[in-house]
Amino acid sequence: MASFPLRLEPAGSFERLNAFLRDCGYTEAYLLDRFELPNLHFLLYPLGHQGEQFRRRYQGPGRAALVARLLMGGFAHSRAEILAEIPEAIAGAMAGLGLLEPAPDGSDRLSCPVVLYPALGFFIAADRGFYLEGWPGYRGNDYVMSGTEHICRDYVESLPDSHCGRLLEIGTGSALGALVSSRHAGHVWASDITGRATGFAEFNRRLNLVSNMTVVRGDLFEPVEGMQFDRICCNPPFEPPLKKDLIFSVGGEDGEQIMRRLVTAAPAYLNPGGRLYMQAMGTERVDSSFDGRIRSWLGDAAGDCDVALFVRKTMEPREYAIQQILGENENSWKLEEWNLFYQKLRAGSVVHGHVIVQRRATPRQVFHTTRKFGPGTAMAEMEWLMDWETRSAEPGFAGYALRSRPLATESWELHVRHKLRAGKLAPVSYTLDTRHPFQVETQVRPWIAALLARCDGSHTGAALLEWVRQNGELAGEDGAAEFVRTLGALASCQFLSLPEA
Ligand SMILES: C[S@@+](CC[C@H](N)C(=O)[O-])C[C@H]1O[C@@H](n2cnc3c(N)ncnc32)[C@H](O)[C@@H]1O
Repeated sequence: MASFPLRLEPAGSFERLNAFLRDCGYTEAYLLDRFELPNLHFLLYPLGHQGEQFRRRYQGPGRAALVARLLMGGFAHSRAEILAEIPEAIAGAMAGLGLLEPAPDGSDRLSCPVVLYPALGFFIAADRGFYLEGWPGYRGNDYVMSGTEHICRDYVESLPDSHCGRLLEIGTGSALGALVSSRHAGHVWASDITGRATGFAEFNRRLNLVSNMTVVRGDLFEPVEGMQFDRICCNPPFEPPLKKDLIFSVGGEDGEQIMRRLVTAAPAYLNPGGRLYMQAMGTERVDSSFDGRIRSWLGDAAGDCDVALFVRKTMEPREYAIQQILGENENSWKLEEWNLFYQKLRAGSVVHGHVIVQRRATPRQVFHTTRKFGPGTAMAEMEWLMDWETRSAEPGFAGYALRSRPLATESWELHVRHKLRAGKLAPVSYTLDTRHPFQVETQVRPWIAALLARCDGSHTGAALLEWVRQNGELAGEDGAAEFVRTLGALASCQFLSLPEA
């Protein structure tokens, strides 16, 4: 571990630097365009041939190009070269904050010891893992991720953009998620266990002139003991302990221990109706499912909390291990270690996704659901499902469903499998299939397929139940309850909607 490389004073330097960076055109769009990239992740990994390409594209005249060379690429420049593009007062402010330091080669040139890049309308400083001139970057186990790696962007983009009062981000790192959230929240608390992360988070709060955010340091909820929040967000460390001892990455003995502690503790820190949003990676094991373990982590609070697991990707353990080993430039011995690790867990697959835990606001049945991402699934779809499931778990839902006028959507397909029976083709299975809002493939009974074809918005739920009964299905009270459950389940996959009559 090394001490935090930047300085947090004086306040005026942040204001001047922010105005300069905005004015000079150092934007995310500028970088994407200059490097012809779909996202900034690639600029953080300037390896091999790609590094050569970047090195060439960093060159060229102009203020934004010099700023990108210094702050993103880590190139060194003489004082005269810097002052040819950057006003002296700004260069002085940058030096005062620690953003211009003598270059690692011992020459009299200056370079930036951290990366500082534009993202989602903010400027974010974080640890520099590379210098394009070839010097080694920061390697401490408290390394602070930039927040723009694919996995971090998946997380930030999964966070809701609706208004909320008090929001807590645990494991804030460079604080990109907390800063983005500060646009929608009354106040944000951004917390991390390492002083290096809280240093970057506070630096970035000041640099972006954000006043509704407080940075605190400690283990998980320790710094906010006794407080309650409407929203808690976290992109926790969830890798197996096979990656040195990186604090941002390793999640304890099976990779799931920080997630487990977070889920167990979260309900006490949520206001009624509040939600925990956690990016998650875990394993499906022979003797326990990932979603089952997540629910078990809630312990006594399970009766008070809804749980949804949204699966973005499922991989074979070996495929995931190879990805990680290639990313770390490790050799095949390392693959043996990963294989043994997954064998010991009896893991059949590795799951990457998002977990939402909601503390219920009213006395009602809680719900548990697991959904698979489709090609268009994003934050809005996850929020929609949470709101829908919450509504359909309320006691008045049965009455509402029977009064509504069910309307089938056009986003699904029905696959009917036939077999030859006594010389005639006979249907033997009915499968509904959709990719939006989630990927669902579910086998249904024939009456459900027929019901969907009849849901044209002109019949109430009650009239449709009567029609199903006339066709010999769903008699009695139990039948009515099954019908309502079926309407709810079909609506939660958006095979149909339930508009009010
Ligand atoms: C995967 S990084 C995520 C950083 C940032 N939120 C992002 O998405 O870019 C995990 C973060 O959790 C922090 N962390 C690890 N263990 C923690 C703990 N027990 N309590 C609080 N923070 C912790 C790490 O220091 C790191 O900043």
